[in-house]
Amino acid sequence: MKPKILVYMRVDDRVINELEKDFQVTTFSNHEYLGDKTFEQALKEADGIIGLALNITKELLDAAPNLKIVCNVSVGYDNLDLKELSKRKIMATNTPGVLNETTADAIFGLLLATARRIPELDHIVKTGQWNISLQPEQYGIDVHHKTLGIIGMGSIGSAIAQRAHYGFGMNILYHNRSQNKEAEEKYQATYCELDKLLEQSDFVCLMVPATKETVKIMGAEQFKQMKNSAIFINGSRGKNVDEEALYYALINGDIHAAGIDVFTEEPTPKDNPLLQLRNIVTLPHIGSSTTECEYNMSKLAAENLVKGLRGGKPPCLLNEIDS
Ligand code: DGY
Repeated sequence: MKPKILVYMRVDDRVINELEKDFQVTTFSNHEYLGDKTFEQALKEADGIIGLALNITKELLDAAPNLKIVCNVSVGYDNLDLKELSKRKIMATNTPGVLNETTADAIFGLLLATARRIPELDHIVKTGQWNISLQPEQYGIDVHHKTLGIIGMGSIGSAIAQRAHYGFGMNILYHNRSQNKEAEEKYQATYCELDKLLEQSDFVCLMVPATKETVKIMGAEQFKQMKNSAIFINGSRGKNVDEEALYYALINGDIHAAGIDVFTEEPTPKDNPLLQLRNIVTLPHIGSSTTECEYNMSKLAAENLVKGLRGGKPPCLLNEIDS
């Protein structure tokens, strides 16, 4: 009998078709399936799970007694309890590498859109309000040759630094768990403490993974440390930012504007006060969402799954399962 897999949200159809040759596949494409009887049955029988952002809790694992592998279609894995998975000898994998350039494009695009107020001005044109030439209070701010502070100089942070350095002549500061010599050499990035980065940057771009240490790494105190003229960009995870503090920083003028791709709760509730502000540009977590990149991520996640279920070591294994 073919092993059974549960496919959950945003796995490319071509990849699902391939998986169907070797596995019995049950597909779910919506958050609403949680708590659903069909979902529970599929979970009970699943040898593997592949998909995006399903919260793998102890309760879920209790309901999945056959599970051998969980394959995220994302580089982030804050939805996985790695310790618990290891304890149960269940492999966990992610999809690093294939999304670096695509995500850097999106986050740098968000930075440009926020600085030049592109969504706001697009709205003016489309709603027939372009009656007179642009007024000074509608001007954006320059990006080129300014100072960009990147918190989290991993692969995606480095791809952002590359764009900033070569494309925009920006001066780059960064803060990271360890020094990134390659980014220093290639993009003349300067390592500095978080306080200094916040005080000196014209743009602060948050790119750290979500861990216990990074929860609300940006709060009221950090926004106050930033220049009043600075722009904050979040391309990491919503929980790394205190959203209420961001709201007050934006309305009190502690910072000039913000661009965020991620929220504490996703999808964010319609009544999130941040959505009322003029000086914030928002996106629905689209960092890696291009046709090409989503396909490559699905493909890599499937490679992990196939390898793991055939008894091998998946290329992007995140946890130790032997001890
Ligand atoms: C990632 O790969 O972690 C992206 O943010 C999509 O969740």
